[in-house]
Amino acid sequence: MTTYLDRGPKPEGGRFLNFHHVTFWVGNAKQAASYYCEKLGFEPLCYRGLETGHREVVSHVVRQKDAIFVFQSPLNPGNREFAEHMEKHGDGVKDIAFAVEDLDYIVALAKRRGAEILKDISEERDTHGSVRSATLKTCGDTSHTLVEIGGYSGPFLPNFHPHPESTPNNTSVKPRKGEPCGVRFVDHCVLNQPDEQMLPVVEWYEKILQFHRFWSVDDKQIHTEYSALRSIVMTNFDETIKMPVNEPAPGKRKSQIQEYVEYYGGPGTQHIALNTDDIIRSIKEMRARGMTFLKAPDTYYQQLRDKLKTSKVRVVEDLEELQKLSILIDYDDNGYLLQIFTRPMQDRPTLFIEIIQRRNHQGFGAGNFKALFEAIEQEQAARGNL
Ligand SMILES: [Fe+2]
Repeated sequence: MTTYLDRGPKPEGGRFLNFHHVTFWVGNAKQAASYYCEKLGFEPLCYRGLETGHREVVSHVVRQKDAIFVFQSPLNPGNREFAEHMEKHGDGVKDIAFAVEDLDYIVALAKRRGAEILKDISEERDTHGSVRSATLKTCGDTSHTLVEIGGYSGPFLPNFHPHPESTPNNTSVKPRKGEPCGVRFVDHCVLNQPDEQMLPVVEWYEKILQFHRFWSVDDKQIHTEYSALRSIVMTNFDETIKMPVNEPAPGKRKSQIQEYVEYYGGPGTQHIALNTDDIIRSIKEMRARGMTFLKAPDTYYQQLRDKLKTSKVRVVEDLEELQKLSILIDYDDNGYLLQIFTRPMQDRPTLFIEIIQRRNHQGFGAGNFKALFEAIEQEQAARGNL
């Protein structure tokens, strides 16, 4: 495991602020948005569709504090781009958007360095002001949209409207039951790559976006009897955006990264981690709403109790409670993180969601990868894919 302390020279222009929103292309945006609301505590934010004069693609926008997800589906027969995406990938993440400053500088540099521009800089405007954005191809069919919000004062982006079913007297688009789930923001988004494709993507982030390496693990550190992976976490100069990039490593059987790549039909987003400051409350509530999570092997907590006895770190949460909820811990002498992973969010074993709480620990759960892998492998075996 390597933590990189050198951020490199400060970029001469352009600044990346944070994750702005994540866009999903799905077969039925209305139902997908509802699932994320019901199970994970998102709430409808705004909408575009037939009722608002958007006749080709519907967008359901949901949010939980600073985490914003946009679910899109085509409205008409014959949308080849969507149809081909759906046939190949199933439901998945199409675009991960970052809020930036000085979009002109970032896009000009990206162009000079050979980035593929999917949508050049354009401006959208409504009564709340204007927003400029551009979209760059990242890997496979996944892209990054760069959004310059400036002084825009609307709830999301220009020309999105309140959900047509959401009026002060009608709360039917909100779950009837349930407490807030406590998600605060997107902590990191992970990209899976095919064999030997991790480094070219890492270099893309270095060259095109001026990101640097934040953390990495190799397959000697992360492996089970069957499967292994390599991972490098890329981050912006201010280290407010974290993008881990994974690739499979040879093992006795099929790596879970390889399983992802086969079912997604290439590289794409493996998981989105959502940050909470009270994971016990979050997971209790999500479980009460019917969300299901990977179960940690029984031996995990016994080993953890033994190891914690010789560590300097003091875990304030009740271990019994963490065990009951299947929440994992990774730690060093100075702090720890708590994390848990959902089962795949759609029928294909592709995208899943992580819930994470950090207590003075900036890692990604390397100490848990083995326990997690073993839990995933049990499920992979049940799918006949191990
Ligand atoms: Fe993660």
